Amino acid sequence: MDSISTAASKQMTRQMATSRQFTVLGIETSCDETAAAIVSGAPGKPGTIRSNLVLSQFDEHAPYGGVVPEIAARAHIDHLDSLVASALREADLTLGGVDAVAATSGPGLVGGLMVGLVTGKSLAFAANKPFVAVNHLEAHALTARLVDATPFPYLVLLVSGGHSQLLEARGVGDYSLLGTTLDDAVGEAFDKTAKLMGLGYPGGPHVEKWALKGDPKRFDLPRPMKGRPGSDFSFAGLKTALRQTVTKLVPLTETDLADAAASFQAAVADAIEDRSRNAMRTMRAASDADGPIPFVVAGGVASNKTLRARLEELATAEGFSLTAPPLPLCTDNAAMIAWAGIERMAISSTDGLDTGPKPRWPLADLSA
Ligand code: KG4
Ligand code: ZN
Repeated sequence: MDSISTAASKQMTRQMATSRQFTVLGIETSCDETAAAIVSGAPGKPGTIRSNLVLSQFDEHAPYGGVVPEIAARAHIDHLDSLVASALREADLTLGGVDAVAATSGPGLVGGLMVGLVTGKSLAFAANKPFVAVNHLEAHALTARLVDATPFPYLVLLVSGGHSQLLEARGVGDYSLLGTTLDDAVGEAFDKTAKLMGLGYPGGPHVEKWALKGDPKRFDLPRPMKGRPGSDFSFAGLKTALRQTVTKLVPLTETDLADAAASFQAAVADAIEDRSRNAMRTMRAASDADGPIPFVVAGGVASNKTLRARLEELATAEGFSLTAPPLPLCTDNAAMIAWAGIERMAISSTDGLDTGPKPRWPLADLSA
């Protein structure tokens, strides 16, 4: 075959592949949410979520103020089987009716990953279906395509309990990292701050609720990395500054708590806005697009309304268009895993049953 017909045949294969509809069972167990979902669709159009079940382990971990890996793994074992059965039932399907099984195989807590992987691989083997090992970060990054078919390339801000990253998504499996955290993840900083102030777990939603009643200007907290070149984050210094501020105030009144929460949230929003602006300018400088470039926010912290409003303004000012998935698709869920499975099926990228967990699995490794 000459090179022209090879190219034509590749293009045809791609068109055939992308126009085919897939129905995928997704499984998520990388942290403290046990989740199973069924999604149908094809890349290029929004997907259809046929079921999306999430069992949060908040109560199990709340006494410790953070996720305890051993407790998380045991809870996944206890609940995953029945959650998968319910997800199939709700979608009015049997296992024979899905085209593939997709499970998160990293990054995350190894015990939880093993539970989800072994379950996913066993189901795929039993039903004689392809298996897709999904990178949890890629699943967050692709959620915007499940929701509204966001076209590549786009900028992703991934802010969760385990990650703070800015990356350019150029295609499935093709990401370039523009910035990451040098220490804590932003969600982790929210969780530790909430724990310090005794607000509850997980911290983000509690801090947000208290901040509503507080004065964001009362405490002058640092804006880490603000004004520096590049798009890296750092939250350890902010967390320490808040601890020092709060310690001086003990015993804290309700007003103190609200003002501290509001001041902390404002500092985080300022820092993320500054880092995102640099990433936007870097991406714009390298792009030949005239119109708005999509800017996708993902991860649990993306459900913070103050942050969303700030990013909306920033996007407009910088010629980007913000896409923020609905809240249940921002936090950990299995619909995003099933959708990542669909994107992978569409390019015939499936995995063997010898796939193991990858507790560390940077997105850059996918591009390699
Ligand atoms: O994406 P996610 O559900 O799980 C991870 O992959 O980490 O993110 C959970 C994180 C937690 O740290 C939680 O405190 C934070 O997201 N979070 C929030 C809010 N809702 C959840 N942070 C700030 N504001 C919120 N409203
Ligand atoms: Zn996540």
